[in-house]
Amino acid sequence: MDKNTKIAFLGLGSMGGPMARRVLAAGYPLTVWNRSPGRTEEFAKQGATVAESPADAVRDAEVVVTMLADPPAVREVVGAFASELRTGTFLIEASTIGPAAVAEVEKELPAGVALIDAPVMGSVDRAASGELSLMVGGEADPVMPLLELFGTVNRTGATGTGAALKLVLINAVVNGVTVIAEAMALADALGLPEDQVKRAMAASPLAGIAGRAFAEGAYFPIRLAAKDVALAATAASLPIATTVHQRLTAHPEAADEDLSQIVKWSR
Ligand SMILES: NC(=O)c1ccc[n+]([C@@H]2O[C@H](COP(=O)([O-])OP(=O)(O)OC[C@H]3O[C@@H](n4cnc5c(N)ncnc54)[C@H](OP(=O)(O)O)[C@@H]3O)[C@@H](O)[C@H]2O)c1
Repeated sequence: MDKNTKIAFLGLGSMGGPMARRVLAAGYPLTVWNRSPGRTEEFAKQGATVAESPADAVRDAEVVVTMLADPPAVREVVGAFASELRTGTFLIEASTIGPAAVAEVEKELPAGVALIDAPVMGSVDRAASGELSLMVGGEADPVMPLLELFGTVNRTGATGTGAALKLVLINAVVNGVTVIAEAMALADALGLPEDQVKRAMAASPLAGIAGRAFAEGAYFPIRLAAKDVALAATAASLPIATTVHQRLTAHPEAADEDLSQIVKWSR
């Protein structure tokens, strides 16, 4: 691919928005589509083409990127554009949907369309700065320049392996943040000062996960974290993830809050 390669980006949410902005800023001809049209306005002002439908978005594209909420969203959107994809097109599926849904998507695609699963670790701050970590399954060599705009590319093997590794990592992270929340509740019960506990965590093997539990620039809503542990629990028997899922879904009114809020719930 080169800077004239036509890109279609579908899904301009908290992550897709900043990722698509990087595609535009890099100078690629970009067509965008989002279910709620308001999110496309700033892209139109900056020179992107705004499509009326998923099918319109992909019709002329050489590379299509989807960054959508969950498996039902991806099924719906891919179902709406699959028949329009031209032979030789690449579909980069960046949402977190797990390998089973990636396999379903692959079955929907016409012959000659290559599917690359490229889910990401890192939140909105890293999406904006191009510092995500991408787990990339499939024959991605031809689209590496685009993937590298989003962050560091980790090649995982065949199509679906990126989605699988992402599920392993995010399930452990979400469970880990819940463990930090419980640790803070214990510290409170034992009368320990919060600063002291945070400093001790930062100097312990808990450092990375405590960093996420107390992160400030991240926005990974609890509803998406619940979706991820539920997806993980469909792939294996995971009693901890099942318990964490119950906890994450116990406060539907807080579903749009960042995952770090569960630390507050526990105290
Ligand atoms: N946020 C994070 O920190 C983070 C980090 C890594 C990975 N992820 C993963 O990346 C993906 C996107 O996350 P996000 O934070 O950008 O989510 P988000 O802000 O909720 O955006 C979701 C996007 O999906 C669209 N959508 C939802 N249901 C749809 C449907 N049925 N049909 C068509 N479009 C639909 C939304 O459209 P509307 O604008 O119309 O709602 C929006 O564009 C998720 O799989 C998430 O798990 C998120």
